[in-house]
Amino acid sequence: HDHLITSKQLSRADIETVLDRAAEIADDPDAVANRHANAVLGLLFFEPSTRTKMSFETAMKRLGGSVVDMGSVESSSVKKGETLADTVRVIEGYADSLVLRHPKQGAAAMACEFVDVPLLNAGDGAGHHPTQTMLDLYTIRENAGLDDLTIGIMGDLKYGRTVHSLSYALTNFDTHQHFISPESLQLPREVVYDLHQQDDTQIREHEALESVLPSLDVLYVTRIQRERFPDENEYQKVAGEYQIDLETLEDASDDLTIMHPLPRVDEIAPEIDETEHAAYFEQAHNGVPVRMALLDLLLSGGETDE
Ligand code: CP
Repeated sequence: HDHLITSKQLSRADIETVLDRAAEIADDPDAVANRHANAVLGLLFFEPSTRTKMSFETAMKRLGGSVVDMGSVESSSVKKGETLADTVRVIEGYADSLVLRHPKQGAAAMACEFVDVPLLNAGDGAGHHPTQTMLDLYTIRENAGLDDLTIGIMGDLKYGRTVHSLSYALTNFDTHQHFISPESLQLPREVVYDLHQQDDTQIREHEALESVLPSLDVLYVTRIQRERFPDENEYQKVAGEYQIDLETLEDASDDLTIMHPLPRVDEIAPEIDETEHAAYFEQAHNGVPVRMALLDLLLSGGETDE
């Protein structure tokens, strides 16, 4: 079976297959309402989640299936010291596919070695979050198009798994990627190295948004993730930087699309929510058709005929 662990494994054709299927499902969700009746999805979330967990649950139910949920670390036998390997081996016996979020980078890559059912990485520490990337790409395609795209990615680029996954996936398209962050939260050097190897990708790193803002089609804002900092003092040095409000956007294109994986803390002022720029709630809602498409393709072995 296929697992989805990082966006590095995805080709342009893979991405387009998922996005096209998601668009079909969004247009006519009733057509798939019973497509996976009796299918069970196992949810294993070792870290908090609102969107990823609930949109996977909604997606499975809208395909006619159901979910089993390990619950929190505190309420499961993880609390008694059960290993991740044992936990996934047990739950694969209860479910047709597994979704795993874990605080350790590499957790999904390790866990999928122990299971035969498809395992989807729903975030592994500061590593990857490839299903988020799929809904991000879907949202970009709808709002700005994926080719000849100039995107600014701003905030916590060091620990930001949504950023790592998105930047790799975008190398399948013809993109200019501008990375905007404090020096201490720059993209990991190995990611920069990998992106530089891609023919159709141009990347630049900046400490200020100002100079690049007018050229952007999309601005992807991220939260500074307090929980990932080994030292609270280091977090305090950068907390509250890179906030945007209406004044910040004065020089932006009228067509600028603003995205954020959410949750936000204070990076985007609420006054932006009602503008034509704001796409972050639409982005979160796109998680349902996109995850329906992913589950449908994985559970059907890629066979999309009704
Ligand atoms: N974007 C995202 O992964 O949100 P959650 O942490 O709420 O799942």
